[in-house]
Amino acid sequence: MNTEFSVTEAQNATNIFLKKINEDCSKEIGQLSSLLRFHEHRYYVLNDPIISDYEYDQLYKLLERIEKEYPQLVTSDSPTQRVGNSLNEGFETVQHLVPMLSLDNSYNAEDLLDFDRKAREAGNLSMIEYCVEPKFDGASISLIYENDFLVRGVTRGDGVEGEDITNNIKQIKSIPLSAPFSAYGIQQIEIRGEIIMTKASFNKYNEWLQSQNLPTVANPRNTASGSLRIKDPKEVARRNLDAFLYHISYIQKSKNKSQNQEVEYNQRFTSHASQLELLWECGFRSPQKEKRVLKGIDSVIDYVAEFEQHRDDLPYEIDGMVVKVNDLATQDLLGMTSHHPRWAIAYKFKARQATTKLLAVEFQVGRTGAVTPVAKLQPVYLGGVTVSSISIHNEDYIKEKDLKIGDTVLIERAGDVIPQIVQSIVTARTGEEKEIEFPKVCPVCNSELFKEEGEAVWRCINIECEAQVVEKIIHFVSKDAMDIKSFGEANVRKFYELKLLKDIPGIYTLDYSQIAVLEGFGKKSVEKLKEAIEASKQQPLNRLIYGLGIRYVGETTAKTLANSVTHLLEFQHKSEEELQQLEDVGVKVAKSIHQFFGNKENIHMLQQLESLGLQLKNEKKEANVEGGLSGQTFLFTGTLNKLKRSDAEAIVESKGGSIVSGVSSKLNYLVVGEDAGSKLEKAKKINTIRIITEDEFLEMVK
Ligand code: IVH
Repeated sequence: MNTEFSVTEAQNATNIFLKKINEDCSKEIGQLSSLLRFHEHRYYVLNDPIISDYEYDQLYKLLERIEKEYPQLVTSDSPTQRVGNSLNEGFETVQHLVPMLSLDNSYNAEDLLDFDRKAREAGNLSMIEYCVEPKFDGASISLIYENDFLVRGVTRGDGVEGEDITNNIKQIKSIPLSAPFSAYGIQQIEIRGEIIMTKASFNKYNEWLQSQNLPTVANPRNTASGSLRIKDPKEVARRNLDAFLYHISYIQKSKNKSQNQEVEYNQRFTSHASQLELLWECGFRSPQKEKRVLKGIDSVIDYVAEFEQHRDDLPYEIDGMVVKVNDLATQDLLGMTSHHPRWAIAYKFKARQATTKLLAVEFQVGRTGAVTPVAKLQPVYLGGVTVSSISIHNEDYIKEKDLKIGDTVLIERAGDVIPQIVQSIVTARTGEEKEIEFPKVCPVCNSELFKEEGEAVWRCINIECEAQVVEKIIHFVSKDAMDIKSFGEANVRKFYELKLLKDIPGIYTLDYSQIAVLEGFGKKSVEKLKEAIEASKQQPLNRLIYGLGIRYVGETTAKTLANSVTHLLEFQHKSEEELQQLEDVGVKVAKSIHQFFGNKENIHMLQQLESLGLQLKNEKKEANVEGGLSGQTFLFTGTLNKLKRSDAEAIVESKGGSIVSGVSSKLNYLVVGEDAGSKLEKAKKINTIRIITEDEFLEMVK
């Protein structure tokens, strides 16, 4: 990396700072900050730290202390600036500088030969040099650096526009907040890559979830991609994500680059491999070590096959390889379709498969009464996890796959999603296999099961069925619903079994003295639970609606419903037709909502919840005032034409934003009127500040 330190210099500098840990080191703050960046790079990118975590923490705390004493010295690439203290309030849609394309896929040697032939014909070449690298299994992102600073991180979105997730991106320690691109004569650069979660971070995160009684996550890819749009940047940090950067989509050269820089750059960066090198030198985790430059497609075919053998040895998941024409001029010549470049192709690995025995089938009753058959398997290792049970969905699915108890079955994990049964191996049957009998009555409450016309699912319609009641309570307290922390699935089951809890309102009338004497509960944990339950009474109406578990009402519909009334019980008087007027509410959803609010017991439950202190009123109006600018800082400078300065400031505050007195890295928006002076000049030097006109401000708060 283009760094200010050699290893020895970094060690010396570390020792000097550690000796001066209680002194005023403000004059050396720049050096300290660079030193921390050096150690972050060793740790997160090279996986080769040269100091202990403890020593790093000491240096970090020293920097924090100096910055607290001298806030004017904080720079936007200081390691302390990763910490996201405020929540993301929605994500702004922004346009990519260059559209984010996808890749064409290949699955075998023939596909690759075909790709090579077409590329050679189009480029009129006898042989092509390729750069081959892993296809990281995560979520794609795009980063923009301007004047060496990270200014934006964006999701893929629809490829043309994505969402600005800069605050979350800053939580990923292998992504540098600043990088020395100007040394290469680059003023602005757009880089593409993949956010991934290593297998180790995935396991550690699941252990933590378990310790908190929270549901575990299924695989690293979904967890990584689900993390990008999380509201709380601290939650993103907890997941310990990683990033590989593998493509430069846009470069704007510096105006004042030297002649030498220009010549050197043009000579050196003529291939994809050299661009990976540039990223590596600038401190990014690019596939510099994993890539291979190969002449001709035959060596590519050999290499991808060899790599596939070792995919499980990698510390992260990959779902294939990417084969890229190495020479950038040839890439330009080949161009792209609207979907993918013609100079690259993904080579997808085969789904991982294994055979095992189907030992038995159990039937589980979900919160909506749906009875799901679950195949119990002889445990088998499949791409990183041991599989011992798999959902086999419904009766139709069982018929379609011709499954019998005692069968040998082929299972697979495609792209590392939840394992599936591919088929039963009919030729391996001995005659001892037994048909899977679907129950006629609920396996939990014994009441008769029903199947609606056109549906494949059998349901228990007894709303008092224990299984459903428990699942409903579990859903109600869950993270996306009422988010009652420290309650969790295990506690719901335990309290229900012990008859301490029998329904949703029961959550708010728990007898804590009985819980305090249970094994595993101390005074503190009871106190915590009590606080979490109390706090949940203030959850907004949309969460309550989602928590009720009305069929077909997901989080988005719950928000639509909450916004359409001033009190939840108004739904009692709404017809199906009226409900269908709402966005995203079709015939099926309207019917389900109507049924729910037409049920006396449900209404009684809601009345009980209200009398227990829950919010059934819509706090939309207050929410609107609060929304928008929460956590954002503003400063007005120059003469405003349309607004009085005091009115403009009042608007910011009414929308949850705040006014700051000077230009610093803490400022988010500088609103510029006529004849703006020194503040504007100062703000231009700080990359993270957005400079907007009065009209843009008005548009923003409209
Ligand atoms: S190159 C124009 N390289 O795979 C450049 N993509 O299935 C296109 N991916 O959208 C991307 N590893 O999110 C490239 N080494 C790699 C990759 C990679 C993973 C993802 C990327 C892309 C998707 C296409």
